[in-house]
Amino acid sequence: MPNLALDGESWLLVLTGAGVSAESGLPTFRDANGLWERHRVEDVATPEAFERDPALVWRFYSQRRAAAEGCRPNAGHLAIAEVERRLGDRFLLVTQNVDGLHARAGSRRVVELHGSLFTSRCSRCDRDPFPDDRLYERDLPECDACHARIRPHIVWFGEPLFPADIHRIDSFLRAARAGRPVFLAAGTSGNVYPAAGLVHQARATGAETWLVNAEPAENGAAFDHFVQGRGAGILPRLLGP
Ligand code: OAD
Repeated sequence: MPNLALDGESWLLVLTGAGVSAESGLPTFRDANGLWERHRVEDVATPEAFERDPALVWRFYSQRRAAAEGCRPNAGHLAIAEVERRLGDRFLLVTQNVDGLHARAGSRRVVELHGSLFTSRCSRCDRDPFPDDRLYERDLPECDACHARIRPHIVWFGEPLFPADIHRIDSFLRAARAGRPVFLAAGTSGNVYPAAGLVHQARATGAETWLVNAEPAENGAAFDHFVQGRGAGILPRLLGP
């Protein structure tokens, strides 16, 4: 089993996707039995869907809230949190997952690139996003300030990433040039951009690039190393001292 051989010069950027939470019991999107087999993206994960049928969209995200709350971080999440404790500010985790499991495993330097299941915000005014773990079926929440609908704090298809997140990733990669940059993607099919383009950005800073995934990824050609298999088994050994 290979090891990243991280040392005092290493800067590690990790990108995770749904595969990292699979062994906690959460379905991925594009595998057999994945979420996109049972739901159409256009019905539940676009601003137009929310406009058309907010109750359906809230039902989908309420089910996902309940599922995420009912499961626990696995050995993959824990290994990622552990390597952060060793590297400190020379570590950054970018996750496409909205399930909160990385934070529950102890990760602190986390960019939630696609938002968070446990945060909501107003769909109209600029009131700050707020923590929210309630389940909505019929009575949909409204903004206290402007009475517009409250929506999940999720980056839907067709929406841009949060500028502050892009800035944080760019700054990290700039700083990483001072040392030995390493990029690791885990549990992601490499289908969804801009996240799938992060490997190219990392390569441009001179990073060595690693992929841990159950199957070859769509953007797999951009990686120097591919370790095929399950995250909970591989990540503790790959990231271990
Ligand atoms: P996908 O469902 O596209 O890909 C999950 C990947 O994880 C697949 O390539 C699997 O082979 C792999 N996998 C499954 N189980 C695994 C395991 N135990 N260990 C390691 N790998 C495993 O999920 P994402 O790439 O995260 O966006 O999808 C990206 C985005 O598309 C999501 O953030 C979501 C989705 O539509 C939004 O909802 C905005």
